[in-house]
Amino acid sequence: MAAPAAPARSTSRRRSPAVALPDSSRIWSASCVPVLLHMLDTRRKRRQAPGRRCRASSWSWCYSGRHRAAPCCGSAQAEGQRAMRFESRKVVITGAAGVYGRALAAAFAAEGATLVLTDRDPAALAAASASLPAARVTLHATDLRDDAALDLLVAAANQGEAPHVLVNNAGLYPFIPLMDATPEEYDRIMDVNLRAPFRLMQGIGRAMAAAGRGSIVNVTSSAADVIRGNGVPYGASKCALEYLTRAFAIELGPNGVRVNSARPGFAEGSAEVRMPEGYATAIRARALLPHPNRPEDFCAAVMFLCSDEAAFITGSVMDAGGGGHINRRDGASTRARS
Ligand SMILES: NC(=O)c1ccc[n+]([C@@H]2O[C@H](COP(=O)([O-])OP(=O)(O)OC[C@H]3O[C@@H](n4cnc5c(N)ncnc54)[C@H](O)[C@@H]3O)[C@@H](O)[C@H]2O)c1
Repeated sequence: MAAPAAPARSTSRRRSPAVALPDSSRIWSASCVPVLLHMLDTRRKRRQAPGRRCRASSWSWCYSGRHRAAPCCGSAQAEGQRAMRFESRKVVITGAAGVYGRALAAAFAAEGATLVLTDRDPAALAAASASLPAARVTLHATDLRDDAALDLLVAAANQGEAPHVLVNNAGLYPFIPLMDATPEEYDRIMDVNLRAPFRLMQGIGRAMAAAGRGSIVNVTSSAADVIRGNGVPYGASKCALEYLTRAFAIELGPNGVRVNSARPGFAEGSAEVRMPEGYATAIRARALLPHPNRPEDFCAAVMFLCSDEAAFITGSVMDAGGGGHINRRDGASTRARS
């Protein structure tokens, strides 16, 4: 039996609907098309707003402006827009009124985080958070040396859902010659730099562990590795905080909570610190890279550690100090041949 003949393929091209429109439809399109175009343009502008990523699927059309005539890539990176890694995530930051605290709060807020910010002075905290999106920010003025206040901070941070991120950033770094350091000065440094992170890692870490996820970053310093005569209690506190980082990483890891340390580069501007003369120049000269330290460089390191990209990183120390921590060179002479 002969095979049935294949249906003849139409050679005529499908007509553009605009050509075949009956008169009434022409009138309809003439009045509605401008409205539709306006709606699409408004949608495009909304998508282009800073911090928004393109949500078009790979089969829909992208209104970002760059892919208007092509199916959307669906990727925030390809759009040149910021990824929103912390959207709907609760992030607790201590020392939020300080140099790095302010930068961290702004960086996490820009990626969609809901923030619980704390510092000692309520006015400084309010001023530091003035430019952040108020609906996503809760402020808690807390003296980290006060145990009862720390308990209240832990309760407030854990209220609702457990925090996704804790950044133990607050720190004191006074310059005191070793033999002159008083017991009170020593206690003050240890209370803020070590005891408070310990208590927050217990209190908030427990809630994170119950939720089966979380990331803690302890802000330490390359001072943990070197013995500077006028920074010994400070270096000891950061060295011990890196030890606690590893201990809590071991303790909380099985419950899906990661704990890491991050060391910032040198930055001036602390309201608390008076630097000895020449210190800033000497420490800056240690960095190996040509550009000066920017607080954003440190924020990028912390946010990486807190993001899903670092899902298998725990118990580590990340140094964002431009290589200053490995630089023991004695000036340019190390490049000369004998
Ligand atoms: N700035 C640097 O060059 C540098 C370098 C290495 C490490 N670090 C570390 O980075 C972190 C942030 O440093 P920074 O330069 O932003 O300092 P900063 O002084 O600007 O900020 C520290 C914040 O901690 C707060 N704080 C101090 N005592 C407190 C207390 N008892 N209760 C509540 N809050 C208190 C202060 O009010 C301040 O806002 C610190 O842990 C510091 O050791 C800084």
